[in-house]
Amino acid sequence: MAVNDTKRFTALQVMADAPVIPVIVLSDVAHAVPLARALVAGGIRMLEVTLRTPVALACIEKIARDVPEAVVGAGTVRSAADAQAAALAGARFAVSPGYTHSVGQACHDLGLPLLPGVATGAEIMAAQEDGYTQLKFFPAMQAGGPAMLKAWQGPFGDVKFCPTGGVTAANARELLALDNVVCVGGSWLTPADAVAQGDWARITQLALQAKNLQ
Ligand code: 3PG
Repeated sequence: MAVNDTKRFTALQVMADAPVIPVIVLSDVAHAVPLARALVAGGIRMLEVTLRTPVALACIEKIARDVPEAVVGAGTVRSAADAQAAALAGARFAVSPGYTHSVGQACHDLGLPLLPGVATGAEIMAAQEDGYTQLKFFPAMQAGGPAMLKAWQGPFGDVKFCPTGGVTAANARELLALDNVVCVGGSWLTPADAVAQGDWARITQLALQAKNLQ
């Protein structure tokens, strides 16, 4: 899939681009571009920058502007205002830790692909009611892991998941082997110490390993 700074992606395309969507927490704007480049060098282009730090939106803006090979999205989107700020900063997809109608509506209105977080059948049904069928299962390993995903294959056979939360290089394969899993999400590609030290080679290596998971 060619990536450029004008192409729009569906949520399914965001999920299917690589086996792993890295969950990124940045506390220094100076780290944003080299980190994004390190992940892209390892073949991972869909990047979720979480709105958990004061510099998160500035980081999204920088990656969107300076790393055209990457497709930057916003994570930890918890309100319509978060979605609007993320889109304004240049985010091209959104990920939320849970689902609310207002977040779903805001992303729909913005044309921003959303992977809404769910952990129960009721949440899946609420997201589906609003048209969302590609969902993040969060927190995946804490909330039932592969067994939960298998249980959902019956009643929610039309839903595809990105399990996130407690996923590692060690357990990702088991999740990726499930029919209703397209990709996984996780923070293990961007260890805090590697980011702090600017050890971009290590992050490229972790990305390469993640890209080869499937
Ligand atoms: C998160 O929201 O922090 C993500 O789910 C990442 O979880 P992880 O650190 O367990 O990969």
